[in-house]
Amino acid sequence: MGRSLKVASSVSDHTGLHESIFSWITPRLRQLPWRDTRDPWHVLVSEVMLQQTGVNRVLPKWQIFVDAFATPAECAGAPLGDVLRLWQGLGYPRRARNLQAAARVIVEQHDGLAPSTLDELLALPGVGPYTARAVLAFAFEEDAAVVDTNIARVLARFHGRTLKARDAQQLADAWVPRGEAWLWNQALMDLGATICRPQPVCDECPLSEKCSWRGTGTDPSVGSAGVSVAQARFEGSDRQARGRLIKQLGECAVPIHAVAEIMDRSLATAERLVVNLVDEGLVIRQNGELLLP
Ligand code: ADE
Repeated sequence: MGRSLKVASSVSDHTGLHESIFSWITPRLRQLPWRDTRDPWHVLVSEVMLQQTGVNRVLPKWQIFVDAFATPAECAGAPLGDVLRLWQGLGYPRRARNLQAAARVIVEQHDGLAPSTLDELLALPGVGPYTARAVLAFAFEEDAAVVDTNIARVLARFHGRTLKARDAQQLADAWVPRGEAWLWNQALMDLGATICRPQPVCDECPLSEKCSWRGTGTDPSVGSAGVSVAQARFEGSDRQARGRLIKQLGECAVPIHAVAEIMDRSLATAERLVVNLVDEGLVIRQNGELLLP
């Protein structure tokens, strides 16, 4: 009796928090095309794209990708080069390779339907704790707590502590209102993306009265688990040079002697990057030419 009362009260402890967030998000929920679907494959595609790429760069790519590969089977059966072509502009092309590998596992082990349990999702290539829970919450509307970079920042600031991954997940789990995980997670993402930004707008925050940090003093989200740090400079980076080559290969095969010029790098750098791309299975080297797989 005492125990069940305690559980009941600890669940309802968050009622005020839930009300604050739901009344804040209702007129503000960002209209994003992947929020209009519950197709688990389409949600998985969006979440893999959003892992390392901002919403604005994903927007023009997601619909085209899911139109071309409407099912895991269509993606699994395509040449990787076709998947990479549609990934063009999103960066980090290993994600595209892993996504296709995930599609192949879905076809081979799950009858072509994306799985709906945490363990099965975590077993897919390129799917970590964040992406797996995002699919559970956003496709299956399961009570899962998603900790992406925006939500990780909200959690650390609200609780006033630099968190370890396990603590962040536990705190996020404890907040999820039963049966409302879809809207709850989307709302916290929007809160992190629009208000609880790296430079926050605490005056407009629905949680400011309950927040431990409130924007003054050392920011507890810096170094907290899941909070991304600024990406390394793109200009002059290996990522830029690799991207230039993959983009060109999307058009036609490239003779090996032309690679340094396409990449705008030294011969030694170009050679090193080509070796890596071939090792990663993103590029094929054949008869003095490079091509997409
Ligand atoms: N970032 C990751 N997942 C997202 C989503 N579902 N909506 C907006 N931004 C996101």
